[in-house]
Amino acid sequence: MSIEPILRSLLPDTAALRHDGVTVGGVDLRELAETYGTPLFVYDEATLRARCHEAAGAFDDGVAFASKSFLCGAMARLALEEGLCVDVATGGELDLVLRSGVPPRRVIMHGNNKSKEEIARAIKEGVHRLIVDNFDEIERLGELVGAGTSVNALVRVTPGVEAHTHEYVRTGQEDTKFGFSVASGDARRAISMMRELAGVTLHGVHAHIGSQIFEVEGFSQSMSVLADFTRGDDFDELCIGGGLGVAYVAGESAPSISEWARATRDAARESGLRAEVRILAEPGRSIVAQAGVTLYRVGVVKHVTQRTYMAVDGGMSDNPRPVLYGSGYEAFDLGRPLADRPQSVRLVGKHCESGDVLIDEAHLPAATGVGDLVATPVTGAYGYSMASNYNRVPRPAVVFVRDGSAREVLRRETVDDLARLEV
Ligand SMILES: Cc1ncc(COP(=O)(O)O)c(C=O)c1O
Repeated sequence: MSIEPILRSLLPDTAALRHDGVTVGGVDLRELAETYGTPLFVYDEATLRARCHEAAGAFDDGVAFASKSFLCGAMARLALEEGLCVDVATGGELDLVLRSGVPPRRVIMHGNNKSKEEIARAIKEGVHRLIVDNFDEIERLGELVGAGTSVNALVRVTPGVEAHTHEYVRTGQEDTKFGFSVASGDARRAISMMRELAGVTLHGVHAHIGSQIFEVEGFSQSMSVLADFTRGDDFDELCIGGGLGVAYVAGESAPSISEWARATRDAARESGLRAEVRILAEPGRSIVAQAGVTLYRVGVVKHVTQRTYMAVDGGMSDNPRPVLYGSGYEAFDLGRPLADRPQSVRLVGKHCESGDVLIDEAHLPAATGVGDLVATPVTGAYGYSMASNYNRVPRPAVVFVRDGSAREVLRRETVDDLARLEV
């Protein structure tokens, strides 16, 4: 990690850096912190819309935003407006997306352990696609379809591709809880069983090989496996899931959504896939990560023999990724974004846990200290959506900025909200 000022490329598309402040979407981030408090998630609508638009143009109709990466009503509607379907993985996500006004015919339903109630609701609402994951689900489906009840489905398969990423977010290899193995014959058996079910229209297969993947080769391999595997079928859709990586820190670089789609299409063509088969994907992180910035206020600076700890007013409850995956982030001082960052600190949260570390070795300007506002960029994905109330810390508010104005899309949680569940 460098002591140079924060890289412009890690910030949202509309970010403008001055020596004494940063604007995103034309709005000063320090003003947002004053108005809405900290911690605060800020999303640049222009970045979100640009990435959705890019995905909608790069893949075929039916490409979906993976809502697990960041979900609220405003985000679901934005993805819809920009031409995407919305992928949900549980009944809870399905409910929120439908409440938000996304029509069921634009919803893709996932899940590795869908209850009968979840499947029944997806069928009753008429979701666009149900992605079937396992034999128990096929059995449940068999009890629900037929006699005038129908569903459009894909079968989720594991193509046997080992993606180069953290083992917790790898899913395409054989030893995984997701999908049916192609190599073992389970995937073929699942397809035969699905074809036996009256009321099920099977459109094709789906594979998701993992997350935060920087090389497109894994996706090309996955597409080749899917194309070969379905050569004798009359399917009209293949979906390569999500998983495109994003750069979180200086020195990382990731392919664009368009490059990802191009590599996938090339692999499909080279494998002889029929031109009429729709090629789909479900990007999450690559849509929302770079659009988001989290703002914190520094509360404590503590010097111990080995290092300096700088504690902010959030932590593992609003960003569990460093704890879960050892993920790296960068930080900058909102009042001095163009300054060099020679001060090396361990940026920690306020939770009662030694592991509550946001950045193991963060670089900040020499003067940054108690009372200052610091920001962590590229925090738009799997931050708010994985947020918890550990230590009964209320979840932050979320604000969208665009063309010089801000709108709160999720208000800050209160301790009263947390107390509501007491019986
Ligand atoms: C089935 C499926 N599709 C899409 C995604 C989104 O992945 P990403 O956010 O890495 O693009 C995931 C993430 O876990 C997934 O499991």
